[in-house]
Amino acid sequence: MSAIETEMTWRYVCKLDDLPVLGARVLERGEEEGGNVAVFRNDQNVVFALLDKCPHKGGPLSQGIVFGERVACPLHNWTIELKSGDAAAPDVGCTARFDVKINNGDVFVDLP
Ligand code: FES
Repeated sequence: MSAIETEMTWRYVCKLDDLPVLGARVLERGEEEGGNVAVFRNDQNVVFALLDKCPHKGGPLSQGIVFGERVACPLHNWTIELKSGDAAAPDVGCTARFDVKINNGDVFVDLP
């Protein structure tokens, strides 16, 4: 894959300033594209992206509560690691994660 093709997988989300601290925005994608992506910002201004689907029963993680580098699912309160998408023990499961980059205050997510 060429450098240009690699670059084309980055999708613009929004300005970092438009991402709520300890909150999320949703990058909408159709089911055929794999479903919506939740883009989170924590209180250290670190940005993470996960599939907006809890590994338990598909709850919308974008509506969960962000704390540290984790989000609590709004449906049954599972805790999901924002870096990896893994459910914290004792729960077991994983949701897809995506690379994020911030360029001149713009947030991009890598959607291969
Ligand atoms: S759907 Fe997320 S904890 Fe149940």
